[in-house]
Amino acid sequence: MSALFTSFKLKDVTLRNRIAIPPMCQYSAVDGLTNDWHATHYASLARGGAGLVIVEATGVAPEGRITPACLGLWNDEQAARLAKIAASIKAGGAVPGIQIGHAGRKASANRPWEGDDHIAEGDLRAWETLSPSAVAFGANLPKVPKAMTLDDIARVRDDFVAAACRARDAGFEWLELHFAHGYLAQSFFSVHANQRTDQYGGDFKGRSRFLLETLAAVRQVWPEHLPLTARFGVIEYDGRDEETLAESIELTCAFRKAGLDMLNVSVGFSTLTANVPWGPAFLAPIAEKVRSATGLPVASSWCIDVPATADRVVADKQMDLVMIGRAHLANPHWSYHAALALKEEKPSWVLPAPYAHWLERYSPS
Ligand SMILES: Cc1cc2nc3c(=O)[nH]c(=O)nc-3n(C[C@H](O)[C@H](O)[C@H](O)COP(=O)(O)O)c2cc1C
Repeated sequence: MSALFTSFKLKDVTLRNRIAIPPMCQYSAVDGLTNDWHATHYASLARGGAGLVIVEATGVAPEGRITPACLGLWNDEQAARLAKIAASIKAGGAVPGIQIGHAGRKASANRPWEGDDHIAEGDLRAWETLSPSAVAFGANLPKVPKAMTLDDIARVRDDFVAAACRARDAGFEWLELHFAHGYLAQSFFSVHANQRTDQYGGDFKGRSRFLLETLAAVRQVWPEHLPLTARFGVIEYDGRDEETLAESIELTCAFRKAGLDMLNVSVGFSTLTANVPWGPAFLAPIAEKVRSATGLPVASSWCIDVPATADRVVADKQMDLVMIGRAHLANPHWSYHAALALKEEKPSWVLPAPYAHWLERYSPS
């Protein structure tokens, strides 16, 4: 059996294989609510055979959504609709996960296919954005955010906790905190975004405080037997990489002590000065570094879509789970095709019975 199709146990949750579908915003919600689009999208992904399906970045507060069309989890109606999504993922044989986050200074944006830029000032759909400091990201996201007060910081931390409670009660079994991609939590850690001089800025300890406090507070309410994970940009590719990676590893060790069960290793995306070395599996060596330095299981993604590569990064212990994103948009049955490509003995077994039964004696030409 290939390494990719071995099961993976974390806390009391067992994934049927090492393939995870990372959170991917659908920008298709109204008032933060899931609808028919999300229902069919997530059910079909789960039926495709991956072990884990993580629901897209879901705002812990209205102003924490990236766009007005992003999901939310700040009220009970949103939670009730998400409960149906969690159940459908489970019915497809995958473990239902969800990513909760706050978009910080990158919030209040238009959908990617409608400009991917900040909604113009004066447009009634725009809102005030929050960040550790009043420093804009720049380029297509030029809006200057409000520097958060201590009350704002406490409120957003509590919003994370309330959203985690709703995710738990909605039946999600895997929680991912969005601490990456230049959104609010990553901005607290980033020297590019955080210019505070109080206890939430300055040195490593100050820039880590919001992330650690939020994690610790969520751990209090997220069940001990279920995995609590975070997606964190451990590197910016901004020329300060050795220093950033060393700090990220130190923070990941602190996350582990605070109760984190796995890290989804990603890129910071906090600065326009980054020079990301895009290419097949480019983040795998960084994930391996974090995994070996912290002893924490890691997942990672970015530009992995070939089954043999996905199998290799698991076999070589660079990562415990492989996140396959866009390849699943192209083909929700990517896992089945990966099982065929890797010559699994019973490739159709990754699929639910109504598909598996028919495909068992059928080889796609
Ligand atoms: C349509 C789309 C939406 C995304 N939304 C999110 C998101 O909600 N949260 C997140 O952490 N990353 C998001 N990402 C990044 C993906 O999770 C993933 O890391 C990225 O697509 C790279 O993996 P891939 O090369 O396998 O596609 C998104 C990517 C895409 C293509």
